[in-house]
Amino acid sequence: MHRPGVTGPAPLRGTAADGPPRPEDSVADHLAPLADDALLDLSTDVAGKDVEDTLARLDAELVGLANVKRRVREIAALLLIDRARQRFGLQATRPTMHMSFTGGPGTGKTTVALRMAEMLHALGYIRKPKVHTVTRDDLVGQFIGHTAPKTKEALAKAAGGVLFIDEAYYLFRPENERDYGQEVIEILLQEMENERTSLVVIFAGYPDRMETFFSANPGLSSRVAHHIEFPDYTHDELMAIAELMVRQENFHFDPQAAQAFSRYLELRMARPRFANARSVRNALERCRLRQAKRLVELHRPVGRTDLITLTDSDVLGSSVFANALADEGASP
Ligand SMILES: Nc1ncnc2c1ncn2[C@@H]1O[C@H](COP(=O)(O)OP(=O)(O)OP(=O)(O)O)[C@@H](O)[C@H]1O
Ligand SMILES: [Mg+2]
Repeated sequence: MHRPGVTGPAPLRGTAADGPPRPEDSVADHLAPLADDALLDLSTDVAGKDVEDTLARLDAELVGLANVKRRVREIAALLLIDRARQRFGLQATRPTMHMSFTGGPGTGKTTVALRMAEMLHALGYIRKPKVHTVTRDDLVGQFIGHTAPKTKEALAKAAGGVLFIDEAYYLFRPENERDYGQEVIEILLQEMENERTSLVVIFAGYPDRMETFFSANPGLSSRVAHHIEFPDYTHDELMAIAELMVRQENFHFDPQAAQAFSRYLELRMARPRFANARSVRNALERCRLRQAKRLVELHRPVGRTDLITLTDSDVLGSSVFANALADEGASP
């Protein structure tokens, strides 16, 4: 079948997945140029298919997050059009792709970063679909002269992919004038400006602290093109996330278990250190533990239904229920 506009495998920047950056390779070098009066069917861009796959995965594996999904689609469209423009020889600066992901714990930031890397790679923006995650301790040295080499090592590891800086605000300690975090920020600023390295930096962390971090570091903020917010999940979304996780692991809640889990979530959401979907995942792990114990203690042969079913007793064994009872008892 003739597919106009298709020139072979998805053009990428460079070929070696882990090789050193090859700034001389630009996407345009690999795309066949088009005449001024040509028409380009965007659906024939081979990268489009991979992008659609990644977006479909994002939809399937993540409940809710409508605004995040919309922003990811917008970024995909921007890069797809940028590729089309290059085919027509239209010069423009490379779109900036540094981002910030702000949201509470367990709201999907790391998961979306992984999908984002896949998408940026499919579109030829980065050379490898990898995320290198770091925190302050991976970048900041203990002694004078240790910080720059540490930061550069992290940058080298992330080169060609995504550098994901978790809890980025810890890089900035205004109370300590000689904090080495400032040195990291300066190196990052340079690296983020450098059009010749294909590196995307994503700053992640809780919304309020990120806000302070960016207002104290306007240079960084202005180099971040996409600020994406990850809201806390609602009770219904958490319940849907639980159902999804249970299904993915080949379990299922019987009707009483589903009710008990819904109640569990209400109680757990009100307790300290609630971490959204991460807490759901942890709670389900413990349900699974209780189910296993229950089945072993049955001392009878078990069937498939036994093995896949989570019952209310597997949920109600949680200390969250005991604590709630104790709290009720304690209240006047
Ligand atoms: N919307 C969602 N639907 C289904 N599962 C989700 C969703 N959001 C997060 N998860 C799951 O919850 C867990 C935690 O998500 P993730 O690590 O991406 O969150 P995070 O925001 O990076 O958390 P932290 O701030 O603690 O690093 C993962 O197992 C992920 O698959
Ligand atoms: Mg994370």
